[in-house]
Amino acid sequence: MKATARAFTNIALIKYWGKRNESLFLPMNSSLSITLDKFYTTTSVQFCECLTKDVVFLNHSLMDEKETRKITSFLDRLREISGKRVNAIVNTMNKVPISAGLASSASGFAALAAAAAKAMNLNLDKKGLSQLARQGSGSACRSIYGGYVEWQRGEMEDGTDSYASPIMDGQDWNLSILSVILSSEPKKVSSRDGMKRTVESSPFYSNWVAEAEKDLQTAKNAISKRDFEMLGKVVEANALKMHATTLGADPPFMYWQGTTYHVMQKVQELRQSGIQAYFTIDAGPNVKILCQPEDEQYIRKEMLDLPFVQDVHLCHPGPGVTYLSN
Ligand code: DP6
Repeated sequence: MKATARAFTNIALIKYWGKRNESLFLPMNSSLSITLDKFYTTTSVQFCECLTKDVVFLNHSLMDEKETRKITSFLDRLREISGKRVNAIVNTMNKVPISAGLASSASGFAALAAAAAKAMNLNLDKKGLSQLARQGSGSACRSIYGGYVEWQRGEMEDGTDSYASPIMDGQDWNLSILSVILSSEPKKVSSRDGMKRTVESSPFYSNWVAEAEKDLQTAKNAISKRDFEMLGKVVEANALKMHATTLGADPPFMYWQGTTYHVMQKVQELRQSGIQAYFTIDAGPNVKILCQPEDEQYIRKEMLDLPFVQDVHLCHPGPGVTYLSN
């Protein structure tokens, strides 16, 4: 009853922003991401009749109660599916430093879903794992696969048609993603709360859903043709549309800082000088830059030369979830 799995973070090119069902983590719109090669979570899960509750360790320390509750309610879903009322020891090692500017919940729940399902002998295929990981954190359903991944929103109320699937292997088109670190402070509005507030109160939200579906088709077309300019333009525009919805929320909020805007301008200046670079931004102030491998070192140096940039992490497409021997 023990298994260990590893999953990598992903960056959304077309964003998941808003849920139509919060308890099942069903999204309003489909999304598309690249699973990255650098930052990952390794989790082992052991179920034991001897435990009276779940015990969770993060990087060798006992996890705090609030975070443990999230893991326990996720494991409750597995207990429901299997009909086995048994508790677990969960050991998680996070190689996603806060300073990476990337969410660890995606790799975290993807690794947990894979390890826990195997330890429970559930025999889930990748589609089943993706559906399960989704119920810990939406973006985690995409980290089950490597390379370019699409999460279809689905139509069913029970969520059985809402899961991710791979659209292209990372080796078939190597792109570079630079994560430009401007701040490592915890964000004031989590993505979960931010998307909820936006869905409930932003007058721009319905347009976002329609636009995201169109952007997704453009991005898939660009990927199939390996058309970097087409992909970059739609990635940048999609991120801007997502952030525009937050300005219309009640109360309004924004994830950018002044330095975020400076980096966005710098990327646009690079483009004017003939270098193909495009940005995307998640629910925080840090900026991710999409570029081609031949430009990655030059752009990295340009970013590190900005006095307010704390660090720049360079990533490429990475693998899907894997099992490790215990
Ligand atoms: C802006 O997957 O972290 O990064 O489902 O509530 O756990 P929950 O949210 P989460 O949201 C990610 C939002 C985003 C866009 C994306 O990754 O698609």
